[in-house]
Amino acid sequence: KKVGIVGVPFEKGQKKYGVSVAPAALRAAGLIEELSEIDGLDVKDFGDIEVTCSDSTPVVDNMAHLQQVSVCNKRLSDKVSEILKDERVAVTIGGDHSIGVGTVDGHYKTDKDMILIWVDAHADINTNKTSGSGSVHGMPVALLVKELSDYWPYLPTMDWQIPKFSIKSLGYVGLRSVDPFERLAIEKFNVPTFAMEDIDEHGIQNSINHILQLLDPCMNKPIHVSFDIDALDALEAPSTGTPVRGGLTLREAICLMEIIHATGRLRAIDLVEINPALGNESDRRRTLEAGLSVLKAGLGFSRRGTAPRGVLDL
Ligand code: ARG
Ligand code: MN
Ligand code: MN
Ligand code: MN
Repeated sequence: KKVGIVGVPFEKGQKKYGVSVAPAALRAAGLIEELSEIDGLDVKDFGDIEVTCSDSTPVVDNMAHLQQVSVCNKRLSDKVSEILKDERVAVTIGGDHSIGVGTVDGHYKTDKDMILIWVDAHADINTNKTSGSGSVHGMPVALLVKELSDYWPYLPTMDWQIPKFSIKSLGYVGLRSVDPFERLAIEKFNVPTFAMEDIDEHGIQNSINHILQLLDPCMNKPIHVSFDIDALDALEAPSTGTPVRGGLTLREAICLMEIIHATGRLRAIDLVEINPALGNESDRRRTLEAGLSVLKAGLGFSRRGTAPRGVLDL
């Protein structure tokens, strides 16, 4: 099994300093080494996406730094495609969640069958007209899905991104902070959604199995997980820009990722919104460790342990 890692030190999709430091902080915390210890995993680091560019095109109302978001995501989309074509699971380390545009675009253009599981406290399905913040990290899902393309004005610099992905291939897990128009979109398109109250009712295993069954009844489609660290409870992952209490425990998140890994069809994981500049040293460590645990669970790390290979006798 092969994995390709790409870092995206991008933070212009939201307003706080520090999410851009996460790729370096995760690498310093042992990202590559820990993944390489997973049995049979071949890990290749593709380095970081170049995120700098000018920000000079005409402004679109209520969309901060559109050109920078666009240019960074175009580069990321091409990189994710390259990693997938190398037959590797594409693991993207953000960066804020606006980079979901590039990862999903890159996956979709490589494999049009893909389904998307958005694990998040937030739905990230605002348009520039419905967003209260103007931050693009609250808009990536609305930019990606073809069913919402008519709700956008013309977006200069975004011509490369043609929304073709269908909202019918999207499911949510972990929601607990959903804006009114986001709720309307979810209901209108009947997006399979396991918000925290549904997880309370059904448990994490039933919830994720139900989503997988709804999105892919034949069980043969490639899976993309876009994991916002704020899906976790703020006690588990305090160092993030828009924390919301009452979220997933790390155990639930690990369980979710293990179940998706067990399908054998997990092709791409985004890990976004870790902000090492927020909180104290213990918050920072806890959040980075939680992120690493989520990735490991998605890539085959077994909590039961792994027996040594090729050894016949104990
Ligand atoms: N719904 C809010 C907004 O549109 C918050 C979005 C938070 N997104 C995130 N990726 N953390 O701004
Ligand atoms: Mn979020
Ligand atoms: Mn129910
Ligand atoms: Mn998000």
